[in-house]
Amino acid sequence: MASSWIIPGAPVLKRILIGLLAVGILGLVGFGAFAWRPAIARIAPPPAAGFAPDLVARGEGLAGAGYCATCHTAKGGAPYAGGYPMRTSFGTIYSTNITPDPKTGIGTWSEAAFRRAMHQGVARNGSHLFPAFPYDHFTKLSDADVAALYAYMMTRPPVVAPAKRNSVPFPLNIRALQAGWKLLFFHPGRFVPDPAKDAIWNRGAYLATGVSHCGACHTPRGALGAENHAKTYAGAPIDAWIAPPLTAANPSPAPWSQDELFSYLRTGVSRYHGTAAGPMGPVVHAGLVKVSDADLQAIAHYFADVGGAAGRASALQPALQKALAADRLNVGPQADPAARLYTAACASCHYNGGAQLNPLRPDLALNSAVNLDDPTNLIRVVLFGVGAQDGAPGVVMPGFIGFSDADVAKIAAYLRATRTTKPAWPGLEQKVATIRGQGVGGE
Ligand code: HEC
Ligand code: HEC
Ligand code: HEC
Repeated sequence: MASSWIIPGAPVLKRILIGLLAVGILGLVGFGAFAWRPAIARIAPPPAAGFAPDLVARGEGLAGAGYCATCHTAKGGAPYAGGYPMRTSFGTIYSTNITPDPKTGIGTWSEAAFRRAMHQGVARNGSHLFPAFPYDHFTKLSDADVAALYAYMMTRPPVVAPAKRNSVPFPLNIRALQAGWKLLFFHPGRFVPDPAKDAIWNRGAYLATGVSHCGACHTPRGALGAENHAKTYAGAPIDAWIAPPLTAANPSPAPWSQDELFSYLRTGVSRYHGTAAGPMGPVVHAGLVKVSDADLQAIAHYFADVGGAAGRASALQPALQKALAADRLNVGPQADPAARLYTAACASCHYNGGAQLNPLRPDLALNSAVNLDDPTNLIRVVLFGVGAQDGAPGVVMPGFIGFSDADVAKIAAYLRATRTTKPAWPGLEQKVATIRGQGVGGE
C-alpha cells in the first residue's frame, strides 16, 4: 500500500505542501498580531469623591438606559457584582464584576481602559470580550457619555466577587478568536447623526441603537450570533420569548404611535397593546425607569418613525371597533366549546365591555401575542401569567398552569380564529407542552 504514496511529481506536491504550511504559519502569526491588544496599566482606584456629582447622576441615567444592572447582577446578588448567566448557543457566559473592587472588579481600570471595553470590546488586560456584552452597540456612545458611565460605576460600593467560569467549549473559548468575529461583524465607531432627520429623532436613534441596544433583542441574528442588519428590528426569539418586530411589520392591527410607545416604555403598559412581560419587563421597570421623559420621548419618536406609525394612523379606529365587536362574541349563550372555555377562563377579565377599552386589561384582538406568526408569547402568558413586577403596577394576570395542554391550545386557537384574520397556528398542543417543559424562566 505504501507504494501508492510514491507518485510521479511528488517533489512538486511536497513543495506545495511546504508552501501551504508556511502560509498557514504566517497566517497564524499574522492573526496573532492582528488579534493582539496591549494591556492598559492598572491605576490606583480613584477616590469616589473625585467625581463630580452631576457627572455621576448622568451616568446613572445612562446605566439605566443600558440595563447594566440587569446583566451584571446575579439573582439575589449585590448590584453590579456580576455572575449573571447568559445562555448562548455556544455555552453559558457569566457577566463580570463591574464594581470598583480592585481585585475582582474594575477598581484599577483607568477611564481609557473602560472606554476601550465599551468602544472595542477589549478588557483592561488586552483580552477580547464576548459579544454577549453588547459592545457592538456601546461603541456608538460618545466619549462624554462613557466618562459619565465610568464616574457612575467607580462610585458604586466595591464588592468582592471573583468571576465565574464560562462554559464555552474549546476552541471557542479562545478569546483571541473573537478578533475574527469582530473582523466579520463588528463596526466600531461613534453614532453618526442622520442630517435628513430632526434633532429629537437623532437623539432617539443615538440612545436606541447605542446604549439601549433595542436591536440586541428585536433584530434577528445569524448563525454566528451577529445581528442581521438587513433585518434590523424585524423581530427575533430571545430567552424563550419572541421580541416582536418594531418595523411596519409589527403584527398588531393598532399602529404603535409615539404616544403609545412612550406610555409602554414609561409605564410598561399601552392602552391598546398590552404590557411589557418577559424580558421586556426589566427593560422598562429596572432600566428605562432611570431615563428622563425627554429622552424616552426621543426613543418613542424614533420608533414611531421606524414603524411607519404616521402612515398607518387611520388604521387605529377601525381596529378598535373590530376589537370591541369581537369581545361581544363572548356574551350570552355560546355553542362552541372553545368559546365557552375562553369565556369562563378569560373573558371575565378580558371582556372590555362598553364602548371603551380597559387600559389595564389588554384587548386581545390588538395584542401582538395573539397576532404574531409564532404563538410562544401567548402560550407563555397563559401558562405562567404576568408577574406583579412586569406590566402595569397593581394588577396581575394569573397563570393557568393547571390547564391541560389541549385546553391551552384550544384557547389559543380560538383567539387566533376570532380575534385576527391571520392563519391558524400549526402544532399548538405540542408547542404548549414544550413551553410548559421549559418553565417560567425558559430554561
Ligand atoms: C446583555 C447583557 C449585558 C449588558 C446589558 C451589559 N453588559 Fe457588561 N458585560 C456582559 C458580559 C456577559 C460581560 C463579560 C464578557 C466576557 O466575559 O467576555 C460584560 C463585560 C463588561 C465589562 C468588562 C469587564 C471585565 O472585567 O472584563 C465592562 C466594563 C462592562 N461589561 C460594562 C457594562 C456597562 C457599563 C453596561 C451598561 C451600560 C453593561 N456592561 C451592560 C453583559 C452585559
Ligand atoms: C432583553 C431583550 C429586549 C430588549 C433589550 C428590548 N426589548 Fe422590547 N421586547 C422584548 C420582548 C421579549 C418583548 C415581548 C414582550 C411581551 O410580549 O410582553 C418586547 C416587546 C416590546 C414592544 C411591544 C411590541 C408589541 O408589538 O407588543 C415594544 C414597543 C418594545 N419591546 C420596544 C423596545 C425598545 C424601544 C427597546 C429599547 C429601548 C427594547 N424594546 C429593548 C425584548 C427586549
Ligand atoms: C383575573 C383577571 C384575568 C384573567 C382571568 C385573565 N387575564 Fe389576561 N391579563 C390580565 C391583566 C391584568 C393583564 C395585564 C397584566 C399586567 O399589566 O401586568 C393581562 C394580560 C394578558 C395578555 C397580554 C400580555 C402581554 O404581554 O401584553 C394576554 C395575551 C392575556 N392576558 C391573555 C389571557 C388569556 C388567554 C386568558 C384566559 C386563559 C386570560 N388572559 C385571563 C388579567 C386577566
